[in-house]
Amino acid sequence: MLDTLGTLERTHTCGGLRESNVGEQVVLMGWVAKKRDFGVFTFIDLRDRDGVTQVVVSEETSPDAHAKAKYLRGEFVIAVKGEVVSRAAGTHNKKLATGDIEIKVSELLILNDAKVPPFQLEVAGSENLADESTRLKYRYLDLRRPQLQHNIRMRAKAVAKIREYFDNRGFIEIETPILLKSTPEGARDFIVPSRIHTGKFFALPQSPQILKQITMISGLDRYYQIARCFRDEDLRADRQPEFTQLDMEMSFVNREQVYREMEGMFNHVLKLIDVDLPTEWPRLTYAEAMRRYGSDKPDLRFGMELIDLSAELKDTDFPPFAETLSKGGEIKAIVVKGKADYSRKQTDELQEYVKRYGAGAMAWIKVGDETTSSLLKVLGEEKITELASTAGAEKGDAVLIVAGRRSVVAAALGALRNEVARRENLIDRSKYECLIVTEFPMFEHDDETDTYVAAHHPFTSPMDEDLEMFKQAIENPADHHLLGQVRAKAYDAVINGYECAGGSIRIHQKEVQALNFKALGMTPETARSRFGFFLDALEYGTPPHGGFAAGIERTCMILVGTENIRDVMAFPKTASAQDLMMDSPGEVDEAQLNELGIKVAGPRE
Ligand code: AMO
Repeated sequence: MLDTLGTLERTHTCGGLRESNVGEQVVLMGWVAKKRDFGVFTFIDLRDRDGVTQVVVSEETSPDAHAKAKYLRGEFVIAVKGEVVSRAAGTHNKKLATGDIEIKVSELLILNDAKVPPFQLEVAGSENLADESTRLKYRYLDLRRPQLQHNIRMRAKAVAKIREYFDNRGFIEIETPILLKSTPEGARDFIVPSRIHTGKFFALPQSPQILKQITMISGLDRYYQIARCFRDEDLRADRQPEFTQLDMEMSFVNREQVYREMEGMFNHVLKLIDVDLPTEWPRLTYAEAMRRYGSDKPDLRFGMELIDLSAELKDTDFPPFAETLSKGGEIKAIVVKGKADYSRKQTDELQEYVKRYGAGAMAWIKVGDETTSSLLKVLGEEKITELASTAGAEKGDAVLIVAGRRSVVAAALGALRNEVARRENLIDRSKYECLIVTEFPMFEHDDETDTYVAAHHPFTSPMDEDLEMFKQAIENPADHHLLGQVRAKAYDAVINGYECAGGSIRIHQKEVQALNFKALGMTPETARSRFGFFLDALEYGTPPHGGFAAGIERTCMILVGTENIRDVMAFPKTASAQDLMMDSPGEVDEAQLNELGIKVAGPRE
């Protein structure tokens, strides 16, 4: 019943034929996207990776092909031979690139049949797509959708552009191993047991950080790599356990020189979608970004900056505010233009939203015909009017206020700013706003263990201006808290609110590196056992160096305009780190475990 391909060769793809091809004999091959039966005529939309072409099978002129066409269903694989003809007047399809022509079929081969797909491939609008877990299980079918095909091809183009950029600028592409020792980037490692060295483990790279630094020590200045990274961390909409970075490093450079490469690379890649970013991107220090936007990756496509109302409220006796201020916290607000008509339900919803970020509550002021506020009773009308005016609210606006610890206020209002922009459609999707966030803190305080952890990674250099404070904080236990104030030569590239790249100037002197390990609570013995090879390497003439890594997926999300990282990966994992198509992670044979000297101690899932 099925035909064989034999020696038949396709002459064109399903996206290429135009009016200028009319009269040509062609062979197309692809999948049946749609079939419409009109008695003596059968119309088929034939699809391949390049597009869709309409083919027509007539009972009168090609009865054999017409008889076969009766058996066709969606996703059958066929080949057709025939003549390119102009479509009849009034039947041109402007939505299709091939919409001016169709193929008058003389021969049809059924190359393969197909089961009825478990979900409909062609749907109007992404909101009508089948449930994502079904689509992930049958990823090969989902990938047939033109949108995903476009995304995956855009990704390939982006990677090609990145290679072009770095090759043209004298960078050397170097591959580093996947079977590695731990390379800390703040997540858990994925580990791989060694069979030959029973009881020992490789770790998969969280990034090639140490190795790229060692290439600098090796004199292989200007390295780059399209590197696969693995991080066992909590997943979010823009995170995957396995992802790809453009990783680069260069020697004898200051921060500005690295920024130039970062800007240059992204500007080159965004040309793919005809976006012109400024040659020099705006820079914002981390402190300023947090103060103005409550985020280290602010989306600059809209305003709504955070406004500090603490000074205005310094004499208040309203307990939650007074307490916040006496403990060194702050009270800040955002103004939502034209939203004085927020309903009680809407402000309640927004309050629930900020609570997720640790805020105790959210107060509001609505500047309507009269000014109303959740704080009216406790602060009085005069104060409310003053607050609204300090916040810069005009008639018709709403002011949303959060009080608390500095970090909580930033997290809550930063997230609220994005959420309100999304709900109120304040984001101009045709805009691309980039910036470089600089001077990140060197350490983050872990409240649970009361220790300091590296904010970027332990190889990042402190700012020259903060080096003395850094040394003092490590050498004098009483000054340990100063670690929280040390700034690093670390930076991120942010586009439309996404952290697309991060990097730093590295520590290149072994004394400073040893001090940093100490700051992170490592004894010299622990530091040696984990990074001895690296500390040794640092002793053999390490040049000053720095670099960055850009998330390929994040960059592609910007290129294709999606908020779901899985849309730019051929075979992504779910939010619980599973591959639903392959059903991984899976179990392994007892024999395989024995060979590795491994016994599963905990309960199996
Ligand atoms: P960092 O950890 O900031 O830096 O990572 C660099 C960039 O990689 C992307 N990224 C991710 N993308 C998808 N899923 C993830 N789980 C994920 N984690 C990170 C982001 C991020 O900006 N070695 C340093 C770089 C350096 O210092 O040169 C590093 O890996 O876009």
